[in-house]
Order: sequence, then structure tokens, then C-alpha cells
Amino acid sequence: MNISIFGTGYVGLVTGVCFAELGNDVVCYDIDKNKIEQLKRKKVPFFEPELEELIIKNIDKKRIYFTNNLDEAVKDRKVIFVSVGTPQKRNGAVNLSSVKNVANDIGRKLKSYTIIVNKSTVPVGTGTVIKKIIRKNYNGDFDVVSNPEFLREGSAVSDFMNPERIVIGANFAKPKKIINNLYNLFDCPIVNTSIETAEMIKYASNAFLATKISFINEIANVCERVGADIKEVAYAMGLDSRIGDKFLNAGIGYGGSCFPKDVKALHNIALDNNYNFKLLKSVIKVNNDQRLIIVSKTENLLKNLNNKKICVWGLAFKPNTDDTRESAAIDIIRSLHRKNAIVNTYDPIADYKKFVLNNNFRKKINFYFDKYDALENCDALIIATEWDEFKNADLKKVKKLLKKPNIVDGRNIYNPNKIKKLGFRYLSVGR
Ligand code: UDX
Repeated sequence: MNISIFGTGYVGLVTGVCFAELGNDVVCYDIDKNKIEQLKRKKVPFFEPELEELIIKNIDKKRIYFTNNLDEAVKDRKVIFVSVGTPQKRNGAVNLSSVKNVANDIGRKLKSYTIIVNKSTVPVGTGTVIKKIIRKNYNGDFDVVSNPEFLREGSAVSDFMNPERIVIGANFAKPKKIINNLYNLFDCPIVNTSIETAEMIKYASNAFLATKISFINEIANVCERVGADIKEVAYAMGLDSRIGDKFLNAGIGYGGSCFPKDVKALHNIALDNNYNFKLLKSVIKVNNDQRLIIVSKTENLLKNLNNKKICVWGLAFKPNTDDTRESAAIDIIRSLHRKNAIVNTYDPIADYKKFVLNNNFRKKINFYFDKYDALENCDALIIATEWDEFKNADLKKVKKLLKKPNIVDGRNIYNPNKIKKLGFRYLSVGR
């Protein structure tokens, strides 16, 4: 099928290259010229496992093409996917300007029947908004479909290729049939719904997963006070298939480009419709507090943080990505600075320049390109991201390099007994 994808972020690029890999003819469009130039040179603008190899392969096989020419992106395309950013406004509402601009651009260029499939996470009712904008510019036949994406950064290609379900929100039989055909190679349930229901499924799924994380973090906080072990509690809870064993890792809470934004957006959507979603308010509060618990623990270990040198391992919001958006490390470092600590950091791939630029840190952060160098003379080590590299670190070396053998583990990556035997003072979450 002739497809085009508007937006070359994580979702757009992965969707494009995976559909190309499945044999479709794909054009990826973005207004960012630099990004398109980079992609034409077979360079991916961010780190995502498997993505670059797949892009190279499909460019060579002439199944994928990158452009910032709107005509090329719309001409002769049967299906156009919209996967542009829907960032958060200051008041927590969703900023739909990119989605609206894309709808406007597509409407101006359409010449024959096309299905516009929205993959961006958008408030319920946005499908209708897209339709109206296109209709203003184009009198011919077209349809709008909602097809939310559930892939995770760090495993995006594999998630796309092995979905647990595909949701297709279509209000008419013709687009429903065509989009179902596009996905017929996948071996998983396809849930056909209305556009509105599909839009809601995405928010409800992300909000539920975020709730699971905040719930397990609260259980962890109680575990600490009663002498229980959160890892064992979560393991035993997860064996109950009604609960499931995923997303029960306690730690410093969720970050990233989706959960924080989507939970707030759903809370806002409910408010806009005169419903106070009380539970989500607590989920957000628990998550914000959880990030700082790790700083309080460090403070307790060291009595105070004034002029203390703290090393933070991990800037990415989770392992296997260079993405630091809404990462817990941001709040942790800010809080350390407020308490007048000196901060050293290391992350295997996160772009530290972007990290500083995007977060307006008032005080200096010392970045290192080697995890051990970052430890020198530090009073404590905080683990903020559970990279394998940290799990497999040479702890004897860590102990030698630190000024004081203190580890505060925000991701529960070490075994408390083993690490204490090595002579560390060790605090983790819920154990
Ligand atoms: C999420 C959804 O999982 C995905 O379906 C959706 O399409 C986009 O948002 P992503 O943001 O890439 O994906 O990462 P995910 O693996 O879900 O982790 C989100 C955050 O939750 C991370 O900060 C992670 O550290 C945290 N988390 C996850 C926990 O704290 N504990 C857990 O048990 C699981």
C-alpha cells in the first residue's frame, strides 16, 4: 500500500520503517529540514535499538523515502498517518497546533480519496476536528481514522512488530476495511471501535499503567515502614493473573514523553467535561513526591547536603533510550542543587547538552563520559536509571572511588545483602 507518515519522531519513524519492512511503499514527511536531510543520509536523529539498521535496509530496497516536500508526501498516497507531537500546555491541556497544521496542509493537497489515520495521542473529539479542518480545504471524498500507538521507547521496533492488540477507530465501513487490511499481517486481536473510543483507549491505557506505578510506589513506601520487601511483595502480587507482573517495579516513578503528559491530559479532559478524576490527581502527586524521596534519603544518610558532592548515574527517563524528557533525574538534580549539593552525572547515551539546555538548570552540573570518573570524591551515588551498565558495575571499584561508600538506589538494582557485605551504606525503595 502507498502510505505516508507525517512526523518523524519515535512513533512516526518506527511506524514508517516497520510498514516499509512489511512491504509497503512509505514516504516519511517532516517540516524539520535538518531531520529529513539526516534521515536521507541514513542517520537516525535519536537512539532507538534496531531502528537505524531497518532504515538503512529499507532505503536501500527503495521502500522508504524521506521528504519535506508536501506535494510528494500527499500525492498518490492511499493512507496518511499523522504522528506529530501533542505537547502539554502550561495549564496541562493538550497543544493540538501541530495536528491542526498537518490537517490543514493535507487538506490543501488532497486530490483523491485518502484515509487520514491519526496516531498522535489526542483528546477525544480530535478526529472530528481533523475532519473539519480537512473539509474546509478539500471538497472530495476522504475519511479520518484513529489508530493509537502503544509502542515504548527503547523497544519501539519490537513493540510495533509484535503488538498485543491493534486499535482501529473508524466510523465508516470503507476506511475500517482498508486499515484492517493494512494490519492483517499481525497476529493479534484487532479491536474495531468508533474514533472517540479509540482516542479514549490510548489515554485510559497510559493512565492505568501510570496508576499501577504510583500504586506500587505507595506500597513500597509502606513496606519500608513495616519492614516488608517490595520486590517480594510485587513478585507475589504479579503471579495473580488478574494483577499481572508488569509495571510493578517500585522506584522513583514514571517519566518520559507520554505518561506524565497523558495522565495530566486525561485529568484535564475529565475536568473540561465536568468530572473531577480524583484518582489521577493522586497518581500525579505520588509520582512527583516519589522522585524527591530519593533526595531525602541521601540527605538522611549524609545529615545534610550542603557542599556535599553527589554523583547521579542515569539521566534518561528509562534505560535503552537517550530521551531525558520528564526524567526523574531532572527533579532529583534540581532538588540536590536547592540543597546546595555539587552534582556529578553520567549517562551512557543521553545527550547532556540537551539535558541542560531543555531544563534551565541554574547551577552547574559536572558531566562525565565514564561512570567511574564521575564518582571521584563523591559523598554518595544515586542510581536514577536502571541501565545494565550500572547493574554490572564493578562495585569494589565504585567503593574505592567514592569518598564515602553511600549508595541510594532509586531503581532497586542491587541486592541489599550483597551490597552491604561489600561495606556500602545502601538505601533503596521499599526494602
Ligand atoms: C509508554 C507506554 O508504555 C506506551 O505503551 C506508550 O505508547 C508510550 O508511553 P514509554 O514512555 O516509552 O511508553 O516507557 P515505559 O516503558 O512505559 O516507561 C514509562 C516510565 O515508567 C519510565 O520512566 C519507567 O522507568 C517507569 N516505570 C515503568 C516504572 O517506574 N516502573 C515500572 O514498573 C514500569
